[in-house]
Amino acid sequence: MEKFTVHGPCKLEGEVVISGAKNAAVAILPATLLVKGKCHLENVPNISDIRAYCKILESLGSKIEYLSPNEMIIDNTNIKTGIASSELTSKFRASYYLLGALLGNFSQVQISLPGGCNLGARPIDQHIKVLEKLGATVEVKRGNVYASRKEKLKGSHIFLDVVSVGATMNAILAATLAEGITVIENVAKEPHIVDLANFLNSMGAKIQGAGTDTIRIIGVSTLSQKSSYSIIPDQIEAGTFMVAAAATKGNVLIKNCIPKHLEHITSKLKEAGAIIDEYETSIRVKMNERPKAFSVKTMPYPGFPTDMQPQMSILLCICDGTGIIVENIWESRFQYTDELAKMGADISAHGTTAIFKGVDKLYSAPVRAHDLRAGAAMIIAGLVAEGDTDVYDIHHILRGYENITEKFKNLGANIVYSNDNAEAEFDA
Ligand code: EPZ
Repeated sequence: MEKFTVHGPCKLEGEVVISGAKNAAVAILPATLLVKGKCHLENVPNISDIRAYCKILESLGSKIEYLSPNEMIIDNTNIKTGIASSELTSKFRASYYLLGALLGNFSQVQISLPGGCNLGARPIDQHIKVLEKLGATVEVKRGNVYASRKEKLKGSHIFLDVVSVGATMNAILAATLAEGITVIENVAKEPHIVDLANFLNSMGAKIQGAGTDTIRIIGVSTLSQKSSYSIIPDQIEAGTFMVAAAATKGNVLIKNCIPKHLEHITSKLKEAGAIIDEYETSIRVKMNERPKAFSVKTMPYPGFPTDMQPQMSILLCICDGTGIIVENIWESRFQYTDELAKMGADISAHGTTAIFKGVDKLYSAPVRAHDLRAGAAMIIAGLVAEGDTDVYDIHHILRGYENITEKFKNLGANIVYSNDNAEAEFDA
């Protein structure tokens, strides 16, 4: 069985370089399907979700040339079908971006109902609403999503019922080559949405307002790339290392990040007692004391990101006092608290609220990574705890963090990958 063994306690010190943003890359890769030609991408994170997306593109007919582990040229000249393999698309969430991206050039598109982290119900009604408003017919049956159009998609006025990252991305993808003007209101404003819009605009799309509540798209007939595009740094990876530095009473310079994207995390860490210095493309996090208690409510951007709440919870496990986390995005994001309880944390989680009574110490225990971000939290807990913490189900972690063991080791952590069943050496 695969696992990470984290030897704690440890004080993280040094510098870490943040990789490209997973949640931007998983939208930009399908966005290349809107171009009948070559796209040159840089700062692509080398993580298993991206490798899975590349396999999907290749199964559709894309030719991918890797210039380095983080740089690729995708040639979509020979894409002949909008029908994607159910086996490949069922494995992760972001495969639903193929709906919007492929409908630009194909009249029939099919994917499997998307998988991904188990965070409770993950409906796609807003994605369907967007595509139908633009003139597509969408049907969900026997675990697949079928989308078709008789003629080109047509611009429309769309109001999202919930602020959804995925539905906003899909609306941008579908409306880029639609005829006429599309206005989408109540959209998500996450940095990865702005990055998708910037990428498409760099190829000739006309997308205005990304990063605000309303996006306006003037449909264009073709896109072509003129120069390479570099994906933004990963906000959540940066936040994960910021919290790890604070939880271990360390001193870490987090390089290649965008401090503006991290404001909500910075502000909570300051409440906890961390000293934070911001530079143009880096942030230093220092912590000299036991964390103070604080409360967090997860919200769409620019609020506190749900994808940071499991990691942030480790500070509350060992804080001086009682802290609260309210989860407003996902219905089952507190499964990880059972794992932390095994390590001695005092947490009571009911529905959307978890109350953390800070304890003096965490102790090692075998724990599971319930999902990607919960897995990152288990590593941070292992760094704080006394003894050897074995973290299982680490495939979730490898979906979204590039070279995670190397990055932590460079900061002084003792973290070892092992696999009882492995014959080949592994490069996490
Ligand atoms: C994206 O998921 C991220 N994934 C998630 O990150 C992240 O947790 C989430 O946004 C929120 O920030 C990717 O970008 C690939 P949503 P997404 O649509 O797009 C409801 C990670 O760890 N909703 O913004 O699937 C939904 O139930 C992952 O990197 C509908 O009701 O999230 C939720 O309550 C995990 N109908 C809320 O909206 C819909 O049609 C926000 O979901 C769509 C969503």
